[in-house]
Amino acid sequence: MAEKSQVTVLGLGAMGTALAEALLAQNYPTTVWNRSPKSAPAGAVVAATAAEAVAASRLVIICLLDDKSVLEVLGSVDELAGRVLVNLTNGTPQQARDLAELLADRDADLLDGGIMAVPPMIGQPGAFLFYSGSRSAFDTYRPVLDTFGESHYVGTDPGLAALYDISLLSGMYGMFMGATHAFAMIGSAGVPAKALAPLLTQWVIAMTTGFIGATAEQIDQGDYTLNVVSNLAMQAAAYPNLIRAAEEQGVSAELLVPLQRLLDRRVADGHGHENLAGVVELLKKAGK
Ligand SMILES: NC(=O)c1ccc[n+]([C@@H]2O[C@H](COP(=O)([O-])OP(=O)(O)OC[C@H]3O[C@@H](n4cnc5c(N)ncnc54)[C@H](OP(=O)(O)O)[C@@H]3O)[C@@H](O)[C@H]2O)c1
Repeated sequence: MAEKSQVTVLGLGAMGTALAEALLAQNYPTTVWNRSPKSAPAGAVVAATAAEAVAASRLVIICLLDDKSVLEVLGSVDELAGRVLVNLTNGTPQQARDLAELLADRDADLLDGGIMAVPPMIGQPGAFLFYSGSRSAFDTYRPVLDTFGESHYVGTDPGLAALYDISLLSGMYGMFMGATHAFAMIGSAGVPAKALAPLLTQWVIAMTTGFIGATAEQIDQGDYTLNVVSNLAMQAAAYPNLIRAAEEQGVSAELLVPLQRLLDRRVADGHGHENLAGVVELLKKAGK
């Protein structure tokens, strides 16, 4: 039987702990380090310093709060040469590219990653992760990475995994905040959130099934006139009712207001007969 790779995990927050536990469950010899003393998963070797933890394994998984903490921790480690760092800390594409350069200068390889799971999902079906950057690092350590969830290598540009991750999170936050607003609205009449929850779930599933794929097709073709069933002008005419109703019910409309501006601009530009998906053209032009 092939010997299992030594793995180091920097960061024992909720996610770092889940990653270390998944490795240990698959019998990977695992060294862990955390800034402040914390109980480590059973079977892990606890390093006293980040430098000691990095020295223990060629493969180092990093899962800290943010990019600043990653730079601080790596700055405290003198020797990184020959190491493969897999950074699963949430960050931006540019932060990943900058980190890849910094590590290349220190003769280390970066595989940057994005985790599409919450800690209890790690190692369970449904968890998936994006990776980008060093292809050879991905190929070499794929069996280890597959321990966490389904691995998707998305390209040699180190920023791509973060871009995929942030794209999905952006969609998620829009959806979560929309749901939160819906609960505030129904709550204004004293209806408990749990009464609305199954209906909201049913509605969101019905609206996203088909919609996401159809929107993607229109965007890729740049044609927002395909199969229009709910034209934008009609939607823009109804939308102010969402804001008015919130105000009438004493609920803040601050989540809704920016969307109306986009709908109105797109209609004013002459696209009222098209699909909602065309709003993407306004987003693509922002800042240009
Ligand atoms: N939890 C999730 O649902 C989830 C899902 C996907 C991705 N992520 C990402 O995974 C990463 C870790 O999340 P988490 O849930 O594990 O967060 P967490 O429970 O808040 O843990 C944060 C970790 O970062 C460490 N840290 C913070 N600042 C530091 C610094 N300046 N120097 C050294 N260590 C520092 C903390 O050490 P101390 O214990 O010493 O404070 C702790 O180990 C984040 O980037 C997060 O966005 C999380």
